[in-house]
Amino acid sequence: MKIIHTLPELRTHLAQFKHPALVPTMGNLHEGHLALVRQAKPLGDVTVVSIFVNRLQFAPHEDFDTYPRTLVADCAKLESAGCDVVFAPSEKEFYPEPQTFKVFPPPELADILEGHFRPGFFTGVCTVVLKLFNAVFSEAQGSRVAVFGKKDYQQQMVIHRMVQQFALPITILTGDTLRAPDGLALSSRNGYLSAQERTEAVQLSMALKAMAASLQKGEKDIAALEARAMQTLADRGWQPDYLTVRRRHDLQAPQTGDFGGGALAVLGAARLGKTRLIDNLEV
Ligand code: PAJ
Repeated sequence: MKIIHTLPELRTHLAQFKHPALVPTMGNLHEGHLALVRQAKPLGDVTVVSIFVNRLQFAPHEDFDTYPRTLVADCAKLESAGCDVVFAPSEKEFYPEPQTFKVFPPPELADILEGHFRPGFFTGVCTVVLKLFNAVFSEAQGSRVAVFGKKDYQQQMVIHRMVQQFALPITILTGDTLRAPDGLALSSRNGYLSAQERTEAVQLSMALKAMAASLQKGEKDIAALEARAMQTLADRGWQPDYLTVRRRHDLQAPQTGDFGGGALAVLGAARLGKTRLIDNLEV
């Protein structure tokens, strides 16, 4: 496995391959990330994982400075998952000057849910992902694949649409959410939780499961369902941002015809102490 820190070295090294498969990450890797790497592996002739904590997608009050940076441990995990190239640029390397050219995704996709509570988040994500695509795929001559997790449901949707609208010659694939045995979705931010919070954290996925079960039983009063779920978490000491039922294809509120056909997802974001967790389930 090769660990590369600069763009010229990455391009030179990748020039010998035709079909890169990329998994973009911010590091502090867990089994969820590694599952995406294993999914990517057979899809290309070189498996590339990028590790870059992207300042552009963090608001000033968020955890950019404290986000765990664990490159040595990450590389050991990646090597055993079959990764061929780790691209881990410094901030100076990737943003040698302030990144003032940016990708602005459409508000109807990017200013709702996560984008509502984290203004500018998807601009930061799209901008770094487009730049990573350019770094990794510019020398490719055949199929180009990038894999994203459904854990960040809205993110994979926004990236899909970006690739579609810019006609980028890249196939975007998604991987299912990996969970701890109790059902908590694996996340780098789970490391912020105290032992007590870690026990409580599963309640977010349980609240989403309860919403999914109600929908499957034919519940149509979405507003009441959402309010109940928010209240359940609030009563347990959480600060929920949203727990909501949306259409899978555009993340808008469901209309009458959307029920009952596997067209919906429930999505949630809530703070437990200082840690903000997100999760979702397809229904
Ligand atoms: P990061 O949070 O490190 O996640 C990297 C990828 O791993 C994302 O596609 C995410 O959806 C996926 N992932 C995270 N937890 C997962 C889990 N439990 N099961 C399966 N997949 C999981 O998402 C980002 O980084 C950044 O926004 C990035 C796309 C790299 C742009 O900076």
